[in-house]
Amino acid sequence: MTDFAGRHVIVTGASSGIGLATARMLVARGARVSMLARRQAMLDEEAAQLGANAAGFAADVGDKGALEAALSAATAHFGPAYGLFANAGLAGNFAPALSYSPDLFDEVLRVNLTSVFWAIQALAPAMIEAGEGSILVTGSMASKRGMAMNPAYVASKHGVLGLSRAIAVELAPHKVRCNCVIPGFIETPAFDLIPPDQAARINQRVPQRRMGSSDELAEVACFLLSPAAAHVTAQDWAVDGGVLNTLEV
Ligand SMILES: NC(=O)c1ccc[n+]([C@@H]2O[C@H](COP(=O)([O-])OP(=O)(O)OC[C@H]3O[C@@H](n4cnc5c(N)ncnc54)[C@H](OP(=O)(O)O)[C@@H]3O)[C@@H](O)[C@H]2O)c1
Repeated sequence: MTDFAGRHVIVTGASSGIGLATARMLVARGARVSMLARRQAMLDEEAAQLGANAAGFAADVGDKGALEAALSAATAHFGPAYGLFANAGLAGNFAPALSYSPDLFDEVLRVNLTSVFWAIQALAPAMIEAGEGSILVTGSMASKRGMAMNPAYVASKHGVLGLSRAIAVELAPHKVRCNCVIPGFIETPAFDLIPPDQAARINQRVPQRRMGSSDELAEVACFLLSPAAAHVTAQDWAVDGGVLNTLEV
């Protein structure tokens, strides 16, 4: 049962890529969807196309006051949230750990990890009161592997997986679930700048020999958010064409 039956789901990072694909799929499956990101014009344009069951609320999730104001506006518009897809993310910079900018490290941690904690603190009390709720965070293969040249991203994505498990265990008695979806290489605007030869090298690293699509990720996100996943909590689910669990020799 992946029909959301009018339940309100808040999606961050909904102006592009994975968040946008998931917001569209959620609306198609009967949810009322609040779309958060910084680019108000993109959100307004998309929400207008999706109709009355979608609305955009612009905020930088790394700004606690702005995030909380957007969440309040969203719940004033569609009512208390049944679901949160905390998906907004920042890639950071590719630089060695020992010369990585401390300011950028802080910013990546704030956007990719601390903002998720803030959003959960703001929304979970109403889920507890309602006796149902579903939280999904977006991790990365960097949630499970050390990778060179982007210590902030790796730390933030390990952190958000850990946070999802901590929240899952605390909120399980209240019938609120929390899971982590792990994109492998998903073709989104985040990959637009990659030259074709590098894209071909990435494909060779994937057992399926291709990147995934935002819609393939959104299918799993919608399932994990939905009441159909009622007994699924504290899980991480990779959508990666087989990368993480295989070794090709
Ligand atoms: N694509 C992949 O292969 C892949 C792999 C591993 C993990 N991920 C994760 O998947 C998530 C979505 O990425 P994507 O691939 O869909 O990239 P994307 O197309 O670039 O989308 C990123 C989204 O995050 C929003 N965002 C970024 N910083 C924000 C901020 N400070 N406040 C509010 N919104 C912010 C962006 O909106 P605005 O610019 O409008 O604010 C945009 O909607 C991220 O958490 C990323 O780390 C993706």
